[in-house]
Amino acid sequence: MSKTKILNVGEIETQKQKYIIEKLRKEFENKYKETNKKKTFHVETFGCQMNFRDSEKITGILTQIGYEEVDTEEADFVIYNTCTVRENANNKVYGRLGYLGKLKKENPDMIIAICGCMMQVPEVVEKIKKSYRFVDIIFGTHNIYKLAELIELRLYSKRMVIDLLTDAQMIVENLPSERKYDFKAGVNIMFGCNNFCTYCIVPYVRGRERSRSPEEIISEIKQLANDGVVEIMLLGQNVNSYGKNLDQPMTFASLLQRVERVEGIERIRFMTSNPMDLSDDLIEVMKNSSKICNHLHLPIQSGSTRLLKLMNRKYTKESYLELVRKLKIAIPNISLTTDIIVGFPGETDEDFEDTIDVVKQVGFDSAFTFIYSKRTGTPAATMDKQVPNEVCNIRFDHLLKTIRESSKDSDGGEINSIQKVLVEGINEQNPELLTGRLTNNMLVHFKGENHLIGKIIPVKLIEKKRFYYMGEIPNQ
Ligand code: SAH
Ligand code: SF4
Ligand code: F3S
Repeated sequence: MSKTKILNVGEIETQKQKYIIEKLRKEFENKYKETNKKKTFHVETFGCQMNFRDSEKITGILTQIGYEEVDTEEADFVIYNTCTVRENANNKVYGRLGYLGKLKKENPDMIIAICGCMMQVPEVVEKIKKSYRFVDIIFGTHNIYKLAELIELRLYSKRMVIDLLTDAQMIVENLPSERKYDFKAGVNIMFGCNNFCTYCIVPYVRGRERSRSPEEIISEIKQLANDGVVEIMLLGQNVNSYGKNLDQPMTFASLLQRVERVEGIERIRFMTSNPMDLSDDLIEVMKNSSKICNHLHLPIQSGSTRLLKLMNRKYTKESYLELVRKLKIAIPNISLTTDIIVGFPGETDEDFEDTIDVVKQVGFDSAFTFIYSKRTGTPAATMDKQVPNEVCNIRFDHLLKTIRESSKDSDGGEINSIQKVLVEGINEQNPELLTGRLTNNMLVHFKGENHLIGKIIPVKLIEKKRFYYMGEIPNQ
């Protein structure tokens, strides 16, 4: 008797979507035979690494259907994968939508889709329905896997197709995905966020935290290694809480140990690590690993314990500094980077001074700085004492200056030492040089042949500039 495999809902969905992709592919192929013209697509991605990874999935589906990718928005299918973490992210999208509307007047068959985090906000969808009637497809962060189905619906119904879910119902694995680079790749280890930092909209637009099973993650990474990928970036809003809600709970530190064992993968990075639950185990694993890179992005947001409490960040100025001390002892030349928000409601001069103090004490290699942006629906939006713009701007400038002055001279290795470098491409300013990355994320520029791109090679460090090195390939 033959055995029947029982599929779970995610697997059934994968089968269904693959069936629709195949059906559309055949239709597209027939049209191509008639017209001899391939349909084109363009994906524009806003926001964070998660969105960039999602766009690879979108690109994978569109490519399988038979669309051909182009670099311009003058395409038959244009999709914006949006971000809404700050108000200016929304404004960028509205600005560009106006331009798309004009393009569509010249090419009425063009399909315009918008997806991503902005679409999870009901007021935004209302505005698009009212003011941007030419948009064809709207979907959110929880149903990217349905793209082919939504295109099919649009082709048959000729009406605006809107498909939004307030939270994820399942993790759909194994759909096509088209990676941007051959040698490095992002791998989702979890989706969503449960932290509800009071300023942040991400938990509302990305839903509750869900970890992928370690088996799925390892199997994807093995496949990537087989395809020639040497560096992976594990992605999650807070990787330190990985695995807490799995049927068989496991820690991020133990996941990393499993990832390390995958042959062919030579470098491991991860993002983002919340200081609130970065464990001693993780520090130990990082310290003993030859593959985990010497770089940690550790967003502090504010140096004021009082504000951190109002932000619901669950650590203090002191515990953050203690964590940094432990990390620097365990991994002496670790490169630390961070995110900082200026002008959170109620931020006083003293609070801001605490942030400046932490920046000076830590000496971050670099920092992403943001002026607080009010996100409707988050607790901070209705807090008293929103900080006036002028004050925010003054503090922001002061912060930038302090970061510049205090960022320690990044240390990628002694001059004349030979370091491992992942060659990432041709130098953008000088095409005679190649550009690669050290394990601490610093760039190295050196002369070399193009076939080295994508490989990890030894490079001798010759000269140190503030944020990069000049190097040369050592004589054999
Ligand atoms: N999960 C990550 C952050 C993702 S959002 C973490 O917890 O570290 C990326 C950054 O955007 C945050 O670190 C924060 O600095 C910034 N950010 C988020 N919401 C913001 C808001 N309302 N205004 C300004 N900056 C914000
Ligand atoms: Fe936002 Fe906080 Fe979650 Fe990061 S951890 S995504 S800042 S709520
Ligand atoms: Fe933006 Fe969504 Fe990422 S809001 S920062 S794209 S999770």
